[in-house]
Amino acid sequence: MKIQFLFSIFVFLSFIGCQDEGSPVSPNPNNGGSSNISYSSTILPILNANCVSCHGSSGGWSVSALTTAVNNRTLMSLRGASGDRLITPNDPAQSEIYDRITDDNPSRRMPPSGSLTTEQINLIRNWITQGANP
Ligand code: HEC
Repeated sequence: MKIQFLFSIFVFLSFIGCQDEGSPVSPNPNNGGSSNISYSSTILPILNANCVSCHGSSGGWSVSALTTAVNNRTLMSLRGASGDRLITPNDPAQSEIYDRITDDNPSRRMPPSGSLTTEQINLIRNWITQGANP
């Protein structure tokens, strides 16, 4: 009896011990978090609410051209007026859109009035880091 009781405590404690070994689903800011961020359900609504009024379909980059490039996996050829890539999959630092929403210079920072929330900026960065998937 006593041995069985001690044995069950041992089993219980080893089970608890296993729980502490680090969860495989813990978010990792370096890889953009564990769950895949969807362009159509997460990123596009941010752009539609904050950018499309000026970046519609005429002049400069447009949200619709970006959507087409995301869906067709042709982001590497999509460039802004500056000649820089708007989005370089896996590389926010080489992405003009990320550059402009985080610019320290208020006259360059997008959108021109106010700015995106930290959460929105992180979502866009993590989406790019994950490969800018549709
Ligand atoms: C009120 C109008 C307005 C809004 C809203 C706006 N932009 Fe802009 N954006 C401009 C104008 C005008 C320019 C061109 C002048 C410049 O480069 O600053 C520009 C330029 C840019 C460029 C550089 C384009 C290039 O061809 O190199 C990027 C990238 C950009 N915007 C991203 C965004 C993003 C992302 C948003 C939404 C978060 C946004 N903008 C919202 C007016 C706007």
